[in-house]
Amino acid sequence: MAGESAVLAGQASTGDFDRVLVVDLGAQYAQLIARRVREAHVLSEIVPRDITVEEIKARDPAGIILSGGPASVYADDAYEIDTALFGAGVPVLGICYGHQLLAHSLGGTVEQTGTAEYGKTELEVTGDSALFSNLPLRQDVWMSHGDAVVAAPEGFAVTASTAGSPVAAMEDRQRGLYGVQFHPEVVHTPRGTELLQRFLYEACGARPTWTRHSIIEQSVDAIRAQVGGENVICGLSGGVDSSVAAALVQKAVGSQLTCIFVDHGLLRAGEAEQVEATFRDAFHVNLIHVKAEDRFLEALAGVTDPEAKRMIIGETFIRVFEDVADELTDTRFLVQGTLYPDIIESGTKDAAKIKSHHNVGGLPDDMQFELVEPLRDLFKDEVRAVGEELGLPPEIVWRQPFPGPGLAIRIIGDVTRERLNILRAADSIVLEEVRKAGLYNELWQSFGVLPAIKTVGVQGDGRTYAHPLIIRAVTSDDAMTADWARLPYEVLEAMSSRIINEVPEINRVAYDISSKPPATIEWE
Ligand code: XMP
Repeated sequence: MAGESAVLAGQASTGDFDRVLVVDLGAQYAQLIARRVREAHVLSEIVPRDITVEEIKARDPAGIILSGGPASVYADDAYEIDTALFGAGVPVLGICYGHQLLAHSLGGTVEQTGTAEYGKTELEVTGDSALFSNLPLRQDVWMSHGDAVVAAPEGFAVTASTAGSPVAAMEDRQRGLYGVQFHPEVVHTPRGTELLQRFLYEACGARPTWTRHSIIEQSVDAIRAQVGGENVICGLSGGVDSSVAAALVQKAVGSQLTCIFVDHGLLRAGEAEQVEATFRDAFHVNLIHVKAEDRFLEALAGVTDPEAKRMIIGETFIRVFEDVADELTDTRFLVQGTLYPDIIESGTKDAAKIKSHHNVGGLPDDMQFELVEPLRDLFKDEVRAVGEELGLPPEIVWRQPFPGPGLAIRIIGDVTRERLNILRAADSIVLEEVRKAGLYNELWQSFGVLPAIKTVGVQGDGRTYAHPLIIRAVTSDDAMTADWARLPYEVLEAMSSRIINEVPEINRVAYDISSKPPATIEWE
């Protein structure tokens, strides 16, 4: 898997930081733990569960956290872990499934007690503990488990329990092994952050020196080491991810960088002009503007399947970059602003595939580039913080995300010039009204979607048979989950009446009130 090999190859980090490895036993859990560790200013890296002890030692971690996961230690396909890890002299914290795995692997007992615990649960600290010292003896924690540890392995002290978990926490301080059944990483465990910090700072002795400034230093070093004296091209879309990636690469290797802005004809109204103005005029980057509308639309003609659209767009992007690179000398590297959630959603060994993000799962096998992806371990909010630190203007740092495949995945069914024009006109009204209401920065994304149906209406004295437009506006922290935005009725009303009056092909407007999960943010 792309994400894993990058981590194992040591691409993710260098420099003088204490680092904690999060072993991925269920990706949704691992990423949140990794964030919490970074919020405590300690560098974290997610590693796959089949990582070997030698590979772990090579990364010289200050500590290891085993994440939660969906499985039972007794399931046929239960995740296992090399038990030599527990004797490697590196402190380990097992969380939920990780806690059970720790107990099960070292001779403790895990059972189905018949009292599954889900949600808020009261925990009682029952013994002297490194993790709970200075925390209240009774506290609420968030549980989500069926099996429970009923007997700790030899050498462990039981430090806390709940009604359904006789061994809700355990530790063997001599060996530096700790386990908790609950989820300290979620906000519903109010003192969870402090517990994690005690593990990081006290048990592992990690120093809180990992900051947005250090992320930049580390990325710059890593980019220089990877690229050397060769030339680099960067696919620039004008969005925050590719802009921050480009700014980092420019800081690292300066004039070796050429940015390529591909206008694939799937952009929103006015976008191409805006990107030119910002990057060529304000930032003075070497910018090549490729007008490739015909090429993309020809490749997409008649294609209605969302995954097929992404594959075609991902491949066509690369072919355009290759054509440009052929014109330049010694250009083997392609910079992409791929983020951690793009990789997770495109599917890893431990996370189901939701969508093949065009810049991950949509890359052709035979492409000629080596990728430079300085943001692949970061979440959007971290990327924004890095962008601010790099001095990028607020319009870029706080721009709402726009997917690489653009309007093609907001037009359900056939992507034609005519339908693109309809959506562009309606979408720009949605954004104008959002801005007018002062809501732009509060929303994660706000946009229009054009479904592949027509509806009957009445305008003037006549019947109309035209398109509906769906408005989608969501709030989110990182796009992994999202909620539909409670837009004021007046804002919805203004959007609806303007769209129907100003876009003749649309006679009806609907508002999407689905959260993610179970829906996703984009319709395709
Ligand atoms: P979903 O629809 O999966 O989207 O909830 C999560 C976030 O990712 C964006 N997105 C993409 N971005 N290429 C991208 O560059 C893609 O193929 C792609 N698909 C979804 C989406 O806009 C949202 O911010």
